[in-house]
Amino acid sequence: MKFFIDTANLAQIQEAQDMGILDGVTTNPSLMAKEGISGDSAVLAHYRAICEIVEGDVSAEVISTDVSGMIREGEVLAALHPQIVVKVPMTKDGIKAIRYFSQKGIKTNCTLVFSAGQALLAAKAGATYVSPFLGRLDDISVDGIQLIEQIVSIYAIFGFSTMVLAASIRHPLHIVKCAELGADVVTCPLNAITALLNHPLTDVGLEKFLADYRKANG
Ligand code: E4P
Repeated sequence: MKFFIDTANLAQIQEAQDMGILDGVTTNPSLMAKEGISGDSAVLAHYRAICEIVEGDVSAEVISTDVSGMIREGEVLAALHPQIVVKVPMTKDGIKAIRYFSQKGIKTNCTLVFSAGQALLAAKAGATYVSPFLGRLDDISVDGIQLIEQIVSIYAIFGFSTMVLAASIRHPLHIVKCAELGADVVTCPLNAITALLNHPLTDVGLEKFLADYRKANG
C-alpha cells in the first residue's frame, strides 16, 4: 500500500520524505490556502517545489467547474511536472474531463467521492485514482471504511485499473483498516502517519534495554 501525505506544507512533506516511506502527495484548494499560497504563479511554483521534494505522484486540483475550464487548467498543471496528477471533482463535467485526460494519457485523481456509484463512474471514465473521503463520512455517522471495502471489491470484480486512494484519513486505525481491505493508497496528515510509530510496550522495552546496557557497561 502506498503512503501519500495530505498537505501542502513543505516542512511536513520533507519530514515524511526523510522517513523514507513517502510515495506521493495530495493537495486541495483548502490545504493550499492554509499555507497562504494564492495567485496562479505562486500556486504553480508551490506544486513545483513539492515535486522537487518527493519522487511520486503529486495531486493538484482544478478549481474550474465546467469541463472546458477543467481541461484548460488541467493541461497547464500536467505540463508543469511529470509527477503532477490532475485532481478533478466528482461531477458530470468532472467525469467528462477525466475521460478527456485519460485519452490524452494525463493522470487524474477523481476527488470528493462519497459513494460506490460515484467510484464506478470514475473508473469507467478512466481515472488513475479515485478518492473516497472516509473521515468526512464517519463525521456524519456513515461508515467510511465500509465504502472503501465496497469500492475495492467492485474494482476487483471488473478488473478496473483505477487505484483506490483512501482520503480524509483521520487516525492510524483508518490506515490499518485500509491496508486490511487492500486500498492501493492512503493519503494522510503527517500526525496519522507518525502515530503508527507509537506503542507503549516499545517505549517500555527500549527503556529497559538501555537501562540494562548501562548497568552492564557502567
Ligand atoms: C484528499 O485528497 C483530500 O485532500 C483530503 O483527504 C480531505 O481530507 P479532510 O476531510 O481532512 O479535509
